[in-house]
Amino acid sequence: MQPFMRHRRLRANEVIRNLVREHHLHVEDLIYPMFVVEGENIKNEVPSMPGVFHLSLDRLEEELEELKALGISSLMVFGVPAEKDEVGSQADHDHGIVQRAIRKIKETHPSFYVIADTCLCQYTSHGHCGIVENGEVLNDPSLRRLAATAVSQAEAGADMIAPSNMMDGFVYAIRKGLDEAGYAHIPILSYAVKYASNYYGPFRDAAHSTPEFGDRRSYQMDPANAREAMREAASDVAEGADMLMVKPAMSYMDVIYRVKERFDLPVVVYNVSGEYSMIKAAALNGWIDEEKVVMETMLSFKRAGADLIITYHAKDIARWLRKG
Ligand code: PBG
Ligand code: ZN
Repeated sequence: MQPFMRHRRLRANEVIRNLVREHHLHVEDLIYPMFVVEGENIKNEVPSMPGVFHLSLDRLEEELEELKALGISSLMVFGVPAEKDEVGSQADHDHGIVQRAIRKIKETHPSFYVIADTCLCQYTSHGHCGIVENGEVLNDPSLRRLAATAVSQAEAGADMIAPSNMMDGFVYAIRKGLDEAGYAHIPILSYAVKYASNYYGPFRDAAHSTPEFGDRRSYQMDPANAREAMREAASDVAEGADMLMVKPAMSYMDVIYRVKERFDLPVVVYNVSGEYSMIKAAALNGWIDEEKVVMETMLSFKRAGADLIITYHAKDIARWLRKG
């Protein structure tokens, strides 16, 4: 019996496989998330995220040099403040930890493209992403705080604003705030489709942002829903988002695919902390080949439709791409 269809013709050797490969990963696709803390001479590994560190401002320099040498040019900056209160006053403080970090990066290494995560949860005593009253996360009062935070980050020199708090109307509120403050040129990367995911666990250890009561299910999306993601993305597009994010990434490849099919904006995926830690843990146990599994995962994001990938693996990937 002789098969008529022979798919293996195009898999015969490395050269032909390279010729027909549909997707590629480049260092330019990567955005590296960083956690900046108050204090001095701090470079502490986050226990649940091997290879990821809390850095104080005076230890940023060495990290930036390393990233630069690896060819990574886009950063996502998260601030971990020393003080928290009900309304998250430090979030939009001119001398807040993230504002100082952004200033420092832009002063010492202006070539980095700095994306500011804009949310309140690291800064509020209750750990929710908005203003809380009687145990409820209020939508509209949170928008004012969010817009003020975005403006203060732009003032500090952020190149892009990435709001992650999932309140209704957050893109419009921030766009308006930025425009009125003279930052009409600053783009918004909306965490448009953000699920109430349990894969954020290690990040919450790192950012000290676990909610004190309840959970985020009244504002983040239900993991059971994909059609609803289209409505979330559509409203953000209408409100002026420049790029759309899907988060998490690994368990939501179908959603990445749908967002890419439906909308014309660049699609960014967030390969979140829990996804990172699972791979790291298995690799550290010698159960999987870290490089091969990470590269396969990244390529899967691209195949699903990701244009850009926010990932804690970025530095390792940059090294592997180099030697490859
Ligand atoms: C907070 C925020 C979260 C992440 C990024 N920004 C977590 C959350 O919603 O609790 C998660 C990132 C990760 O898990 O790597 N708005
Ligand atoms: Zn938040």
